[in-house]
Amino acid sequence: MTVPRHVAIIMDGNGRWARERGLARIAGHEQGAESVRMVTEACVEMGVKFLTVYAFSTENWKRPAAEVAALWVLLEHFIAQETPTLMKNNVRLQTIGRLHELPESCQQALAETVAKTAGNTATTLVLALNYSGRTELVDAVRELGAEVAAGRLAVTAINAEEIAAHLYTRTMPDPDLLIRTSGEMRLSNFLLWQLSYTEIVVTEKLWPDFGKDDLRAAVAEFNKRQRRFGGL
Ligand code: IPE
Ligand code: IPE
Ligand code: MG
Repeated sequence: MTVPRHVAIIMDGNGRWARERGLARIAGHEQGAESVRMVTEACVEMGVKFLTVYAFSTENWKRPAAEVAALWVLLEHFIAQETPTLMKNNVRLQTIGRLHELPESCQQALAETVAKTAGNTATTLVLALNYSGRTELVDAVRELGAEVAAGRLAVTAINAEEIAAHLYTRTMPDPDLLIRTSGEMRLSNFLLWQLSYTEIVVTEKLWPDFGKDDLRAAVAEFNKRQRRFGGL
């Protein structure tokens, strides 16, 4: 069996999970955090080196302010609670997205855990926060433009490698496997550049119901795929 080096997940369906139970949407997000914990552990067990989870998109600011605020509180609790487990399991935490627009206390909690776990080597858990593929490309183009303007980069030197080297994901391999829960068949602005040749698995399961066995099933499905990258 081939273990994907990098698994990316669009964690979707928290709200529907809560609604089905007559609960507030935030209860779905809380249970969703439990799924992140389990799936991270499964990645360590299986030897997946990178796990990137879409936790908050730049478009998610459109949601009611109360839900957005509750998500940041939940994130802070999650970081505080999980840091010892990340250390124990040798998991490194990283983030992608425009972090400077998050509440100050969230930024601080994240920065502390990122620094604390920087030397861990089993799995890198990447939280996509205030992330979108388009803003990532905008930020990369701004950096490239500034280097050109400063005379440090020739326009003709801009190629796919140079662009990839200016994305938030510059230190990570592209995802091998993308999982989206809750049956939605769309990318919702996630890793638009990096998913070019990624195998996609969509499951009907709602994210709070997604566990270790579901990750293993997705990896088994990935193993049935024939990746051609445009060749024969
Ligand atoms: C995914 O679950 C979590 C976030 C986007 C923060 P949703 O909150 O989108 O749940 P549904 O899609 O409304 O069920
Ligand atoms: C995608 O889920 C974003 C995250 C999982 C963080 P959404 O629920 O926001 O996506 P849409 O609106 O259904 O496309
Ligand atoms: Mg959704």
